[in-house]
Amino acid sequence: MESKESSLGTPSAAASNADDLGLTQFQGFWIPSRSVPTSSIIAFQKNFQALDDDIIVVSKPKSGTTWLKALVFSIVNRHHYTFSNTPLNSTNPHLLVPYLDIHLYKKNPNPDLSTISSPRLFSTHLPYPMLADSIKRSNCRIVYIIRNPFDIIVSLWHFLRFMDDRSVEDHFEMFCRGEEGYGPFWDHALGYWNMSLEKPSNVLFLRYEELKEDPVAQTKRLAAFLGFPFSIEEEKTGMVNQIVDFCSFNNLKDLEVNKTGKNPGSIIPNNKLFFRSGKVGDYVNHLSPTAVERLSNILEEKLSGSGLTFK
Ligand code: A3P
Repeated sequence: MESKESSLGTPSAAASNADDLGLTQFQGFWIPSRSVPTSSIIAFQKNFQALDDDIIVVSKPKSGTTWLKALVFSIVNRHHYTFSNTPLNSTNPHLLVPYLDIHLYKKNPNPDLSTISSPRLFSTHLPYPMLADSIKRSNCRIVYIIRNPFDIIVSLWHFLRFMDDRSVEDHFEMFCRGEEGYGPFWDHALGYWNMSLEKPSNVLFLRYEELKEDPVAQTKRLAAFLGFPFSIEEEKTGMVNQIVDFCSFNNLKDLEVNKTGKNPGSIIPNNKLFFRSGKVGDYVNHLSPTAVERLSNILEEKLSGSGLTFK
């Protein structure tokens, strides 16, 4: 491998091959088809019937999905549970807000979702064009969380180190070509960005960095969007802060269910997979300034005219 500076600073030949990594080009995006067979996506697109009060959490992997799931679950269920008996104490957020494609329609092409109490909470990493038509036609709410792509690359590299031995340079190269799970990043982001502008009461565009900077304000914004706004009384009695504290990185990471618990089929504890450092800007420790400039230029070109920018 060349030095980090030169290998990241200039476009180079494919460092890794998308096919070898189990990425399949499907409906215009790169799908990690070993964990999400395209047959389960087709089943979801064909069979899922959205309800108007469904809530769907959407993200690219490593954008803060786990955090957002914990927040959404806590907001919506705050009148049903206290912080000591919430299911989040004993169940990882990914099981409480299941993936439509990775979990539900993979197990069964036509799962019975009728017994789930409303509002039903689901999630997906699929891009907007790949969502079931019933979602697009319904009045359900989609919350999209986005993170600066430089931190996504680093977080994904750490995450996938449990499964493959690609370097951060390899990840970077593939990301720049759009060849990463559910990528290209810019097409994924633009799909939800444009819908959030077109249908703001159905699609909320949240940024990981803004959630980190002002979690209280963003949690209130999220709750209002979901149709579960905090009352003045709740604000006065500190309910928003309590939810923010409960869903904080340190609290979730140290819950026994995440410290030692593992999700079904996984041999790695949840906190190693989903709670690494939870910081903004860790990429400076792994990506050279030249690399950052290169990807910034790609993003500027791909997002040009959309109004979507990254600091
Ligand atoms: P890092 O690897 O940079 O630490 P996802 O949930 O989409 O897989 O994203 C995982 C990333 O979100 C990881 O980033 C993880 O540490 C971070 N994260 C998880 N829970 C968090 C929380 N409560 N607050 C802030 N960041 C969190």
